[in-house]
Amino acid sequence: MVPYGDITFHTRKWVRPEDLNANGTLFGGSLLRWIDEEAAIYAIVQLGNGMAVTKYMSEINFVSSARQGDLIEMGLTATHFGRTSLTMRAEVRNMFTRQSILTIDKIVFVNLGEDGLPAPHGYTEITYDRDRVPRQHLDRFPPPVD
Ligand SMILES: CC(C)(COP(=O)(O)OP(=O)(O)OC[C@H]1O[C@@H](n2cnc3c(N)ncnc32)[C@H](O)[C@@H]1OP(=O)(O)O)[C@@H](O)C(=O)NCCC(=O)NCCS
Repeated sequence: MVPYGDITFHTRKWVRPEDLNANGTLFGGSLLRWIDEEAAIYAIVQLGNGMAVTKYMSEINFVSSARQGDLIEMGLTATHFGRTSLTMRAEVRNMFTRQSILTIDKIVFVNLGEDGLPAPHGYTEITYDRDRVPRQHLDRFPPPVD
């Protein structure tokens, strides 16, 4: 494990007609919904808790547009582990040209306890494994056979 790393691009999206704005390019609202979900999944994996919520997003820079049919990819990396929070940096780019489409310097998620209040998560480093998966995601399935 290392404290902080480069952005890793995980999820790919195919820009479809329902994702477009009135200009015929990718609608910012769709992009934000996708990146918020991506950040939530990243936070769940890093914090080992399904109860993590978006607290803050810094300035959002829509660097360039995407068009219908474009393939794009979303990436995140943790930039700071706080006591109850996790701060991430996000980028969305064209899958082939790597042209940046959106950047967000800070997305902050807060780890919540069962009472819905901020709770310490106890982590200080990024994990690249699946070693913090919340129990609720594992209990229903037998362990994988190697
Ligand atoms: C998340 C929530 C429980 C946090 O409550 P809070 O009273 O702000 O909590 P705290 O002041 O104890 O802060 C919790 C953490 O968030 C961080 N934080 C709070 N406000 C912040 C801000 N504006 N920017 C960055 N970080 C912030 C704090 O530094 C702290 O991190 P740390 O423990 O790692 O140091 C509360 O704000 C909430 O319920 N918000 C709505 C969340 C939500 O519904 N999101 C979905 C999108 S609508």
